[in-house]
Amino acid sequence: MESLKRAWLWFDDRTGLGSALGPVIKHPVPPNSASWFYVFGSATLFAFMLQVATGVTLAFMYVPSAGEAYQSLQFITDQTTFGRIVRGMHNWGASAMILLIGVHMVRVYLTASYKFPREMHWISGVVLWALTVIMAFSGQVIRWDQTAVWSTIVASEQAGRIPFIGTWVAQFLIGGETIGAATLSRMFAYHVFIVPALLFLFIGLHLYLVIKNGISEFPKAGKPVDPKTYRKEYEDLVKKKGIPFWPDAAWRDMVFGFVVITTILLIAIIIGPPALGPPPNPSNIDALPVPDWYFVFYFAFLALMPPQMETYLMVFGPLLVGALLFFLPFISNKGERSPLRRPWAVAIVALTIASISGLWAIGISSPWSPHFHAKPLTVEIIGADSGPIYRGGEHFNNKGCLYCHTISGHGGLRGPNLTYIGDRLSSDELTWRIMNGGLNMPGFGGTLTNEELGDLVIFLKSRTKQNQEADLSSGED
Ligand code: HEC
Repeated sequence: MESLKRAWLWFDDRTGLGSALGPVIKHPVPPNSASWFYVFGSATLFAFMLQVATGVTLAFMYVPSAGEAYQSLQFITDQTTFGRIVRGMHNWGASAMILLIGVHMVRVYLTASYKFPREMHWISGVVLWALTVIMAFSGQVIRWDQTAVWSTIVASEQAGRIPFIGTWVAQFLIGGETIGAATLSRMFAYHVFIVPALLFLFIGLHLYLVIKNGISEFPKAGKPVDPKTYRKEYEDLVKKKGIPFWPDAAWRDMVFGFVVITTILLIAIIIGPPALGPPPNPSNIDALPVPDWYFVFYFAFLALMPPQMETYLMVFGPLLVGALLFFLPFISNKGERSPLRRPWAVAIVALTIASISGLWAIGISSPWSPHFHAKPLTVEIIGADSGPIYRGGEHFNNKGCLYCHTISGHGGLRGPNLTYIGDRLSSDELTWRIMNGGLNMPGFGGTLTNEELGDLVIFLKSRTKQNQEADLSSGED
């Protein structure tokens, strides 16, 4: 004991670390900031550290090459002692981080902690959030299974639609004209070098700011922020009533952080990592590319929008949301902080949570992407059991139309609902559309024979309100 203490005193004397860090962790904080509402930021940090630890562990065995990545993950999952658990923790840890960062942002927004003098806390936080989303996406891609490859195709197609610079962004993203070996190397570099380095940098800045300007006090209704007097009032508050951050406030962070890590570990042991999809094969469209849950709502949103608007929403939606978040402290950085006096803030949070969960539910139940397990049209729906209408209906089932188009409640939602298409388009227009495809529809000119095409058109022409009126009971919704 004695010698340990002497060693520590020697170390502290030579490095000054103890005397430098002591005041930082013991610095006084407002008494009412020691609250369970204030644990989510530190919990995000705990989850991040877990990601670093498990990520480095995985990097020992993961091979970032298009030919071997998939097998190396299979090996990690099935053959190594703790590989399954480590992969599981890395996966669920990512989910936890996304969730915690979201809750932390909501808390900061509701208590208006982004107001004077903490504008830069918020802005550095928004950057951290964006970096975390990029980590989640690139992490999904370097899993390099069918879903991963499809997600990249979709993402680069989206990027390609940005006016003027789209092609350039898409090529930068995937490292060339097409998805391949270069894409994986590039995503790997983003995921383990570039983005983590930026994360460390911005976490450092974020924490430095929290120490410099202090943790915000829990807001009181009727006590607005006035930039002229706020700093002085805050100093007086912590001087008179402040409690040391460690241990009086920080024990809650420790307890909650411990609960988070233990939960991730338990889920990793019980449920394990997500099953690897089939190995990648971009030419095979019989995959079911469902993105990880935190992206599902966004894809559902896009799938529900009219196709003409999709491009704009895809490109400008995230830009607008990002800009709004980024500039929030400049929209208002003073005045009331209490949510009781900011009904609009509460309404915005409620609305955001409601729409995200709604979209999420839709995204889970009806895939945004081609729906490869859609139930084929039945003879009743087709409305004939022989002849061109019947044959056309069968082609609709077999040629992949069903994956993207719904007819009478059967099929995917990627393209428009064709239940009443016969009322909308002429035979010529139908032929033209099927031959040439469209923005999100492949052209079938090269893959259908003239007879098949003819039957399909006759079948689609029979999709009219009048014809369906007879059997509205057939699963229409
Ligand atoms: C990968 C998904 C996908 C597949 C597969 C697909 N489509 Fe489409 N389809 C779309 C999308 C998306 C549109 C919307 C128009 C656009 O993007 O230009 C569309 C548009 C159409 C339209 C015009 C609808 C309208 O309201 O104007 C018709 C008709 C059509 N598709 C028929 C077919 C047929 C027949 C097949 C099978 C041979 C098929 N589609 C396969 C996605 C698909």
